[in-house]
Amino acid sequence: MKSCINLIHLSETPSTNTFLSELLKQEPQLPSWTIVSADHQTAGRGQRGNSWYATAHLNLALSILLRPAMVPANRQFELSELCALSVLNALSQYISDADLLSIKWPNDIYYKDKKIAGILIEHNLTSTHIDNTILGIGLNINETEYPDFLPNPISLRVILGHEVSCMEVRNILIDEMQRLYCHIANRSFPLLHSNYMQRLYRRNGYHPYRDAEGIFEGKIEEVLPTGELLLMHADGRVRRYAFKEVEYVLD
Ligand code: BTN
Repeated sequence: MKSCINLIHLSETPSTNTFLSELLKQEPQLPSWTIVSADHQTAGRGQRGNSWYATAHLNLALSILLRPAMVPANRQFELSELCALSVLNALSQYISDADLLSIKWPNDIYYKDKKIAGILIEHNLTSTHIDNTILGIGLNINETEYPDFLPNPISLRVILGHEVSCMEVRNILIDEMQRLYCHIANRSFPLLHSNYMQRLYRRNGYHPYRDAEGIFEGKIEEVLPTGELLLMHADGRVRRYAFKEVEYVLD
């Protein structure tokens, strides 16, 4: 069943995540599925304290407020999997070779070896549960040129060879997220998780990673409910990594 959406579209804001969290401070009863999208962010925020690059009017920036009271605080990674799969499924509706889309752990969306979307999730937790969560999504839609400092970006337009409506992608994405959210609300999360695992970037075989000890060849074994990545090393040891403890070595 679809929930009611409270959609706010802005032409410009520093960051849709910041806008939504400020709004939540002013209106603590703000309902679930309040969504803020913007044509342009002047100070878009990325993971690890990075900024998020996007030319005005060419891309999609949106933030979604959810109140997933049924999700225990130690299972917050479910929201990350939900968000990543929703973005991947929405993009799949445009891309004919959609099996080239994947989720680079924990939640970057890749087309082949290039990043097409990023996700920044900010939770407000009680001692046991999630009070609210803001899912921030940045999707590269019509960008054609990128500065050199970005390692490996790609946009939908570059893949398809034509422009795409940002608002249309936004609406497809929201629909998809509402559809998949039922698995979280009904606590049928294992299905979502198995889809997430199937769509992981470099899911099979050994690939190069870097941890505190250096570069090694590792094979993905599992992503735990905590969001930690289990990697099998070439010597058969399986090691557990939190976000920031390991990174992919890209070609
Ligand atoms: C990443 O570093 O990959 C995450 C990028 C997340 C960017 C989105 S754009 C909409 C929302 N508002 C922000 O300031 N950041 C997120």
